[in-house]
Amino acid sequence: MVAVEDPNPQVGGRGIQMLRDAGIQVDVGLHRDEAYALNLGFMKRMESSLPWVTVKLAASLDGKTALSNGVSKWITGPEARRDVQRLRLRACALVTGIETVLADDPSLNVRYSELGSLTSQLSASQMLQPLRVILDSRCRMPITAALFAIESPILLVSTEPYSEAFVTQLPVHVTCLQLPAIDGRISLPALLSYLGKSCNQVLIEAGATLAGAFIDAGLADELVLYQAMKVLGAQGRNLLELPDYQMMADIPTLKLVDERKVGADMRFTLRLESNPSLSNK
Ligand SMILES: NC(=O)c1ccc[n+]([C@@H]2O[C@H](COP(=O)([O-])OP(=O)(O)OC[C@H]3O[C@@H](n4cnc5c(N)ncnc54)[C@H](OP(=O)(O)O)[C@@H]3O)[C@@H](O)[C@H]2O)c1
Repeated sequence: MVAVEDPNPQVGGRGIQMLRDAGIQVDVGLHRDEAYALNLGFMKRMESSLPWVTVKLAASLDGKTALSNGVSKWITGPEARRDVQRLRLRACALVTGIETVLADDPSLNVRYSELGSLTSQLSASQMLQPLRVILDSRCRMPITAALFAIESPILLVSTEPYSEAFVTQLPVHVTCLQLPAIDGRISLPALLSYLGKSCNQVLIEAGATLAGAFIDAGLADELVLYQAMKVLGAQGRNLLELPDYQMMADIPTLKLVDERKVGADMRFTLRLESNPSLSNK
């Protein structure tokens, strides 16, 4: 009994055929959807060479992700923040925008002490840190950023080269990558093609600008939204920076696939449905 065929072209159902050739009955498809859901990243990458992209956002009841002055610590409670640590652990790469680095100076690592019951299945040394990817088109990354202090891989992506003086000061776990620009900013399709060479799952943990750019470009597969029972007010930062759509047919549409309470907050998992306006992009 096989739940789902392996889409890896190097495997491609050959094992199933060998069993059948040997006269063994093989049934394919039992609990196919559940098996597929367990391996979304692998399945997508084998089928398209692109990783599965999850955008994570924490927002208030009125859909705001930060105060007008950029302060966003903390909209959600400790349980939701611990839950985010598990999302990070699942990801192969964690992507953020330079504005989040400049505003929050985050470490963007998985903190073993916050993994809760998972620590009974995983020792600290077995835990793999995701690649931390910073999108910094115009090389504004400060050399003093807190994320450099943690010795796990970092990829600095820009559209122009960093100065030699900056590069020589970087710790050895930091790599710089130059990618083409679209409208003056890093090409997100080029970024995903690059990450797709080795990553099944990518987590976007950025502000409204970069999160909105992934969704508007039709490059996000999933949105995980933690919603706090708080109201930040009309001056707060929006959930997603998106174009000024003029037709309902053009707006991104999402399908709710899971909702649950996490501490005092709600967590919604939504899948992006195809957007008709994306056919123009
Ligand atoms: N509530 C939450 O879940 C959450 C999560 C993270 C951050 N935040 C908050 O969000 C705020 C920062 O958000 P933000 O929207 O200003 O910034 P952001 O989305 O974190 O970063 C945006 C920057 O990324 C760079 N970038 C490079 N390529 C890009 C592309 N193709 N498309 C879009 N951006 C690209 C751009 O700067 P260059 O062009 O110079 O490269 C852009 O200004 C902070 O206050 C932070 O606290 C909230």
